[in-house]
Amino acid sequence: MSSKVPNPIPDITFGLYLIPPERAKQVVLTALSVGYRSFDSASFYGNEREVGEAFEEWIAAPANSRSSLHIMSKVWNDDLVQGDEAVLNSFEASLSLLKCDYFDVFLIHWPVPGHHIQAYKCLANHVVPGRARSLGVSNYSPDDFTALISSLPPDLPKPVLNQFEINPFVYRPAWIEFFQEKNVKVLGFKPLTRGKEMANEQVLTAADACKCEPANVLINYVLSKNCGVIVKSENATRMESNMKLVCAWEFATLDSLTTAEELENRRLREEATKNQYI
Ligand SMILES: NC(=O)c1ccc[n+]([C@@H]2O[C@H](COP(=O)([O-])OP(=O)(O)OC[C@H]3O[C@@H](n4cnc5c(N)ncnc54)[C@H](OP(=O)(O)O)[C@@H]3O)[C@@H](O)[C@H]2O)c1
Repeated sequence: MSSKVPNPIPDITFGLYLIPPERAKQVVLTALSVGYRSFDSASFYGNEREVGEAFEEWIAAPANSRSSLHIMSKVWNDDLVQGDEAVLNSFEASLSLLKCDYFDVFLIHWPVPGHHIQAYKCLANHVVPGRARSLGVSNYSPDDFTALISSLPPDLPKPVLNQFEINPFVYRPAWIEFFQEKNVKVLGFKPLTRGKEMANEQVLTAADACKCEPANVLINYVLSKNCGVIVKSENATRMESNMKLVCAWEFATLDSLTTAEELENRRLREEATKNQYI
């Protein structure tokens, strides 16, 4: 089921977090049927077996192929801290559960201090390019990324992408610029704030002006920053509607919804997640 032709990262990726295993196979088959081709998985999401069953079934149809999909997964913090063997075992388990013989991108889920650099080197030495075409990172600040890059021997592949939260309420232009300048693709996750801010007045005004749903405003906000976006829905109508491209709006007017307080909350949550493993 493989073809090793390089596969660019699509602008819109389907997110797999918080999809219960018992629904995951059908949700992914529906996402494929409405046109999603890029998928963001992780061992932490606990649904890789069922997601893999959907990939296997879809790829088995004569018109479909693995090479038309872009599949990402991630190694979780518990495995990072246990060392190389656990990292490689996690990689193999994700590959096997997702019924893949290679990943388009395999990611370090969090930059756990004292462990993430060694885990990255281990993956770069053992799984690239045959079983992961490239490596990526997730939740890396510019400082985390600089620490990683400055420890990598020149012959090892650099991360091709970084995933972090982007929406009008958590907008960090300095981060986006930093990674884009280094040709590291930025993928913004949680574009819909998991529903928390969908009824925000400015988002509703933008939706009205664009004649679209608030979700379209939030998804296109991320795209307007020249970033890819990862969005999740279990509902077929919303899955399809979330793919709509909207151009007729000055999205930068939403930047001011990010407050210093929210950024500080986000920073503290990120630090706490990274540091609980020290
Ligand atoms: N790397 C990381 O650490 C990290 C962290 C967080 C997320 N991610 C990735 O990013 C993906 C997306 O983020 P997320 O799932 O946290 O949050 P999100 O995409 O911002 O929000 C998903 C929520 O929005 C609802 N929704 C979807 N479309 C909608 C629409 N058109 N109108 C109203 N509600 C809608 C969904 O409900 P329904 O399902 O009922 O439609 C779901 O409850 C994740 O699935 C994951 O793959 C990565």
